[in-house]
Amino acid sequence: MSAPQRPGVTVFLTGLSGAGKSTIADALVAELESGGRPVTVLDGDVVRTHLSSELSFSREDRDLNIRRIGFVAGEVVKHGGTVVVAAIAPYEAAREEARALVERHGRFVLVHLSTPLEVCEGRDVKGLYARARAGQITGFTGIDDPYEPPARAEVVIDTSVTPLTESVARIRAAMVEGPRPPHPSHAQGGAWDGASGTRDGATGAREGGRAGPT
Ligand code: ADX
Repeated sequence: MSAPQRPGVTVFLTGLSGAGKSTIADALVAELESGGRPVTVLDGDVVRTHLSSELSFSREDRDLNIRRIGFVAGEVVKHGGTVVVAAIAPYEAAREEARALVERHGRFVLVHLSTPLEVCEGRDVKGLYARARAGQITGFTGIDDPYEPPARAEVVIDTSVTPLTESVARIRAAMVEGPRPPHPSHAQGGAWDGASGTRDGATGAREGGRAGPT
């Protein structure tokens, strides 16, 4: 029998527009791929062009968008692949649905980019905050639409105070940690136990990756 395959993993970057999701995703993907590890990237803007082009930014449509992303990520992870998601994903329930879809097959690392709204708005890379403030866009996350901070992200990074290299290093460390112990709401959901034994094998290592806000 061949050696057990490394389990697949999804890194899910969530946060406000301008929080640094794409920048970190690009740097993380470049590092992983330079190490010979192909990565499937599911970036919100790109997904909304190809997979979710009919969707609006209503809560219902945002949730559907994240559910689709979770499904695709789970399919890739099922075959041992590596996925990096970069999406606002403002709602806790939808993020946890995506987690459940992935954790059936492998690891899910939720990374909350907690960069403050003022900083994101100050960056305003796409000019969308200005348009939202001017009332030209409604339902814009952080302005007149909510962002629910994750209750249990594996990694929390404020990109206004954390250098890019450190952010990438912290995410990479979280990617190789053992599985999380079962959560009451996911007691049936976690299926993978092949690579490192059982979920019971996961102990304190995980806590190191679940940093508090920086
Ligand atoms: S999500 O809420 O469904 O997760 P997603 O990450 O796919 O959002 O798309 C976010 C991108 O859509 C933003 O980076 C921004 O460029 C654009 N966008 C357009 N309208 C909105 C809006 N009302 N709220 C947030 N982002 C918007």
